[in-house]
Amino acid sequence: MSGGLEGVIAAETVISNLDESGTVWVRGHSINELVSNYGYEGTIALLWEDFAGTGLTRESVIAQLGADRALAFSRLEDWLPKAAHRPLIEGVRRALASLPEDSSASAITATLTVAITALLRAQNGQPPMAPNVTLTTSADLLRTIRGEPAEQRFVNALDTYLTTVIDNGLGTSTFAGRVIISTQASLASAMLGAYGAFTGPLHGGAPSLALDMLDRIGASGDIEGWLEHALAGGERLIGFGHRMFRKRDPRADILRSALQRLDPNNQRLVFAQEVERRAVGALARYKPGRRLEANIEIDAALLLDAIGITREAFTPIFAVARMPAWIAHALEQRKSGRMMRPTSHYIGRQSIDTK
Ligand code: ACO
Repeated sequence: MSGGLEGVIAAETVISNLDESGTVWVRGHSINELVSNYGYEGTIALLWEDFAGTGLTRESVIAQLGADRALAFSRLEDWLPKAAHRPLIEGVRRALASLPEDSSASAITATLTVAITALLRAQNGQPPMAPNVTLTTSADLLRTIRGEPAEQRFVNALDTYLTTVIDNGLGTSTFAGRVIISTQASLASAMLGAYGAFTGPLHGGAPSLALDMLDRIGASGDIEGWLEHALAGGERLIGFGHRMFRKRDPRADILRSALQRLDPNNQRLVFAQEVERRAVGALARYKPGRRLEANIEIDAALLLDAIGITREAFTPIFAVARMPAWIAHALEQRKSGRMMRPTSHYIGRQSIDTK
């Protein structure tokens, strides 16, 4: 019995793969190539080909997502009034729950982006801002969050982020989506479940906590002492460890380069590098043999922060990256998979019925 299901092969996929060197491949392309030559919508075209359409291109995906953002905007009244003053994570969940049962891949993805900006604006007492259907997701997200077009370097940085973290195989949220759709439930239901699985601090909920941790370490004035105290108390260091990446996640370097291009003198990065170096050493002492290296969360959090995204929005924006991959995996499961139904090993009381 493996409570964490490690090593269990639960699906066959043509979508993405994490190889032994720690490189993520999406439809045969490395993340480096996707960032340089495809961008977020170009990568969605690859992910969705044969699952959510055929002959998809970056341009066709930009156009479809734009049209579906307009549709999502027209439906804000269905859910926004009650969600507007709830925490962002919950507000986004309500938005996804409001989707019609037969929603398309593009409608679900577009609703997520429109929901995030409408909720962020509501928190600041601002009305929702209509999407510009001709823009990329990154450009329109930043435009509607800020209320004005963002400089291209910020748009590029967000596009790099969304593309870099778009998929890494059968993550917990991807698996959750596959389990749900394996019962022939709707794509909308599967995506609501995948999003729910994603929000936990051990998974997509981590990036804002990574910045909180850096702040706490900074305030203590003693990196080594703080780490020792945290590990001695059984705390998990956010931004370290991963079920699949046993070496430092190479995607962190892509995010770090994007941050260095955007903000060459980022002081937080200098501090974070020092924390990372010492944390890896401390983890090796406290958890010998576990190989706990940096995952992407600290670099992701620093990049999103430099782009001007508030911490509360880190996880929902991370979900914008992952949604297209959850969708591709779920539709692949629907096409070729069986209903998922594992077994539990009973360890409770035996035969206590009275005759
Ligand atoms: N800090 C301290 N101890 C850790 C950490 C950490 N970051 N990560 C793992 N450990 C410990 C565990 O407590 C466990 O110790 P034990 O064997 O004495 O009980 C041991 O190392 C092995 O860890 P597992 O829990 O088996 O690792 P698992 O593969 O289940 O967990 C996970 C991976 C959840 C990412 C874990 O490393 C973690 O909690 N990291 C911190 C949170 C984080 O950064 N999450 C984002 C992940 S990236 C993503 O999902 C998008």
